[in-house]
Amino acid sequence: MTQSSFQFSKAKELFPGGVNSPVRSYEPYPRYIASGKGASIYDVDGSSYTDYCLAYGPLILGHAHPSMKRALSKASEIGVNFGAPTEFEVDLGSSIKEAIPAMQKMRFTSSGTEATMHAIRLARSYTKKNIIIKAEGCFHGSHDYALIKAGSGALTHGEPSSPGIPEEVAGSVAIAAFNDIDSFRKVIREKQGKVAAVIVEPVMGNAGVILPERGFLADLRELTSENDILLIFDEVITGFRFHYGAYHTQIGVTPDLITLGKIIGGGLPIGAFGGSADIMNQVSPEGKTYVSGTFSANVLSMLGGIETLRVLKEADYSSLTKMIGKMSSELSSVIERYVQCSVNHIGTMFQIFFNRREVRNYSDAIGSDQKQFLRYFRFALDSGIYMPPSTFETNFVSFAHTEEDMGRLISMTEEFFKQ
Ligand SMILES: Cc1ncc(COP(=O)(O)O)c(C=O)c1O
Repeated sequence: MTQSSFQFSKAKELFPGGVNSPVRSYEPYPRYIASGKGASIYDVDGSSYTDYCLAYGPLILGHAHPSMKRALSKASEIGVNFGAPTEFEVDLGSSIKEAIPAMQKMRFTSSGTEATMHAIRLARSYTKKNIIIKAEGCFHGSHDYALIKAGSGALTHGEPSSPGIPEEVAGSVAIAAFNDIDSFRKVIREKQGKVAAVIVEPVMGNAGVILPERGFLADLRELTSENDILLIFDEVITGFRFHYGAYHTQIGVTPDLITLGKIIGGGLPIGAFGGSADIMNQVSPEGKTYVSGTFSANVLSMLGGIETLRVLKEADYSSLTKMIGKMSSELSSVIERYVQCSVNHIGTMFQIFFNRREVRNYSDAIGSDQKQFLRYFRFALDSGIYMPPSTFETNFVSFAHTEEDMGRLISMTEEFFKQ
């Protein structure tokens, strides 16, 4: 019996399904990780893996980066949380605002889930309307407003719309299709004057990687503005992923509200939502929309963010992006010698779909062969490559990954198909 299977047998008695987040569960048992360094992680049985999961996104600098050591050591000296304002929140908030000017004002939270939950409440209170439109397959965290036709673990484990959500809440969320502006137009027309906000991931990262088609986000901006509907871009994955800023700052489409998480804490628990001062001033104590948190803007997460953004400001995103572009096309040519596939990639994200067609929305993604993907995932794991265990997730690449690492991913893939 391996140490991992031993730990898992104990964990099953403690945690539902033996895990603390469904996406960590896979057959026959998950590897228990002992440590990580750079692009590698090491399990409790002594095996090492090149990590393309990177804790589902935050670790764009890799594991145990010196910036994180600086943050942790400073916090261990001065304390981790005071439940009172600190200069660190002003520091991190200023860096974010400088990089993402549309976040004129923001509020820190402890997770991306909280960020989107509060942003949706704020949109409803600001517009005095109730309906939210979300795109099927987008994932905005595990709260009641967002777990309707959601992606990520909700999709992998077959519960895109979770039981336990009151009918009244579920009824206030309408669904449209990503990359299909007419589907949004149709829902807005049907809901006549009742729509508070549209929320989307500007690049989908929770049904695999799905890119926005040319003009789709700009059309969404126009459509929402014409109808007095707020546009929320959930940039929990995409914030600071492709360049030093948000995805929307790169494409020149400005939403009304933005949510962030993951990278802005460098691996420590964090989230943030923000937008124009006019909207954000509705948040308490300036306004009446209530948002609070014991751990919001805690010293540790603020320091994690400050140190991470300091490194990212000087980072060479474009070389990394080029390297991943090259790897993705090599990956695609290797796989296509054996089966049809679609390798979607953008910036530091990529995903493989075993699919006969190009994957450009949720219905294409769910047509992918998840069983084949899981065979590939297991082979990768046994070959020392750690990926998220689902085609409905994203592989992430960090600044610690090298061309050699990516070469190994390609030769492992070749080997898988040969066998
Ligand atoms: C786009 C997006 N929004 C929100 C969330 C929720 O963030 P968290 O897991 O920090 O609550 C996630 C999590 O993966 C996400 O991918």
